[in-house]
Amino acid sequence: MARKKIALIGAGNIGGTLAHLAAKKELGDVVLFDIAEGLPQGKALDLSQCGPIEGFDARITGTNDYADIAGADVIIVTAGVARKPGMSRDDLLGINLKVMKSVGEGIRTHAPDAFVICITNPLDAMVWALREFSGLPKNKVVGMAGVLDSARFATFLAWEFETSVKDVNAFVLGGHGDTMVPVLSYSTISGIPVLDLVAQGRSTKEKIDEIVKRTRGGGGEIVALLKTGSAYYAPATSGIAMAEAYLGDQKRILPCAAYVEGKYGVDGLYVGVPAMIGADGIEQVIEIDLTDEEKSNFQVSVDAVKELLEACKGIDESLK
Ligand code: APR
Repeated sequence: MARKKIALIGAGNIGGTLAHLAAKKELGDVVLFDIAEGLPQGKALDLSQCGPIEGFDARITGTNDYADIAGADVIIVTAGVARKPGMSRDDLLGINLKVMKSVGEGIRTHAPDAFVICITNPLDAMVWALREFSGLPKNKVVGMAGVLDSARFATFLAWEFETSVKDVNAFVLGGHGDTMVPVLSYSTISGIPVLDLVAQGRSTKEKIDEIVKRTRGGGGEIVALLKTGSAYYAPATSGIAMAEAYLGDQKRILPCAAYVEGKYGVDGLYVGVPAMIGADGIEQVIEIDLTDEEKSNFQVSVDAVKELLEACKGIDESLK
């Protein structure tokens, strides 16, 4: 059987980390694409030289030519501009929309059979635009946000309860922005609802509210610390988990920005929901019961995503 091929569009901080993880896990051969000349080639060379030390067997190449992504099984898109301090994800909209247009056309022409994972922000709008520009089936284009937001939520919960992060199962729905919805009613530690642990006096509602707030601002907290860019280790790890679920037909249920039609009262929108990833891409969107408060927070999030799509349509006529 031929080796799998992973194409990474964008060879910046997340792209480079993705390449390293994909090679280390031997998911397949890796092609790093970027418009910056020399950058993907340089990173590919550097990463290839990790092979003899780490003992992985993967060809890593860098390119500025979309033709080299031909035959890719998985494409992970991080091309675009990252957030700078003081910049919201939405400020990025105009710049990154143009980037999605060229990336979408590249994928449409050279790798229309791939499973495409979008990471570029503002995520819920960019994944929608990328789907529109690429013309790929909706189940083959997905956005990475929920895995990362849930990991941030889980990390803070593990710290609060002084428990292993391995036992925390935390859930974040909605858009990837300040309106995201950390869903406490489905967040557990070893199957024990977080809210039960609060009732037992192991934490307080105030502390959990603080964690929810910190999760919502999780990306911004890192941007403010780094000053020259945004998070990349955990975003890359999250993207790889989704790629593995597809390549291994794992049927994992992960919170993803998936195309939702009908469920959650949403009609034709990319938004963060639990979705099953397997060999057919997004195989199912899973609907869960939400409390009234979670429902109304989810609706705020959906409205924010809708506003972003309207803004995209205002910028690019072809999206109307
Ligand atoms: N086509 C291909 N690559 C592009 C294009 C384009 N049209 N425009 C920009 N790039 C490349 C840049 O040259 C750069 O190497 O995208 C890369 C982005 O890398 P970084 O600036 O290091 O950004 P990164 O931290 O990887 O984040 C990428 O993911 O989480 C989001 O908000 C983040 O939107 C940002 C994206």
